[in-house]
Amino acid sequence: MGRLDGKVAIVTGAAKGIGAAASGLLAEEGAAVVCTDIDVPAGEAVADAIQNNGGKATFMAHNVTSEDAWEKVAAHAVDSFGQLDILVNNAGIAPPGAPIEDLELDAWRNTIAIDLDSVFLGCKHGIRAMKQSGGGSIINISSIMGIVGTSNAADYNAAKGGVRLLTKVAALECADAGYGIRVNSVHPGFIDTPLVRNVVEEGVIAGRMGSANEAIELLTMLHPIGRLGFPKEIANAILFLASDESSFMTGSEMVVDGGYTAR
Ligand SMILES: NC(=O)c1ccc[n+]([C@@H]2O[C@H](COP(=O)([O-])OP(=O)(O)OC[C@H]3O[C@@H](n4cnc5c(N)ncnc54)[C@H](O)[C@@H]3O)[C@@H](O)[C@H]2O)c1
Repeated sequence: MGRLDGKVAIVTGAAKGIGAAASGLLAEEGAAVVCTDIDVPAGEAVADAIQNNGGKATFMAHNVTSEDAWEKVAAHAVDSFGQLDILVNNAGIAPPGAPIEDLELDAWRNTIAIDLDSVFLGCKHGIRAMKQSGGGSIINISSIMGIVGTSNAADYNAAKGGVRLLTKVAALECADAGYGIRVNSVHPGFIDTPLVRNVVEEGVIAGRMGSANEAIELLTMLHPIGRLGFPKEIANAILFLASDESSFMTGSEMVVDGGYTAR
């Protein structure tokens, strides 16, 4: 018996990093997974790998900032697999940092659109689909940057902090309405994914960091556990929140950060 047998999931940003690891793990535990991303070849490869492993998965091209696209993705999950039980709002970007006084309004708006508007749209259409299925679990991927501030990351901090509180509002509304839908956020520390490698590369190019190795060493020192995290370690937290094992958890924030915020 898998921990998610018979359940149907949508994972956004499924083509790489945390989303790819979560898609694979949810499918291994028996869920049918609708993988979505703007990166079509990499997203299709993730869904194909799941199918080749004996799991159930489909891929849909999906820009998480588009409400039309969200309507289509939610309808696709219900039409293909009969219901929606799990939604992982994972897609996101980590923009190149800038101090507030230099941050362009367009850059701010782009980050807020991809990292926060997307989660609002996901919750909206996820709740509508899940209440027809008699309940479910929504997992919003925030960050340690949704809990503590950092210089030069106003847009990312504001978006991820917004995800943290949006999660609590969605949890309360679903509980008040008696929908049987739980909504929780996950707050990863630095996880070794393409997103973090890009941040490091941009930092080196901009002269904020020496070499890539030095930058990874600096990031490592911020985690008392002595290393960066692996995508699978965040996928494990997502799996727990997706499964009935977390049935008394809603509106909560699960921090998975190697001790980063413990200091
Ligand atoms: N890696 C970390 O250290 C870390 C830490 C805290 C939080 N997070 C969060 O975890 C989530 C996943 O991060 P990751 O490290 O796996 O990133 P990643 O860059 O490895 O993967 C993110 C995926 O999202 C997709 N994506 C980007 N914009 C999109 C859009 N508009 N519509 C649909 N898909 C889009 C990308 O194509 C990519 O496949 C993000 O929300 C990120 O902010 C990551």
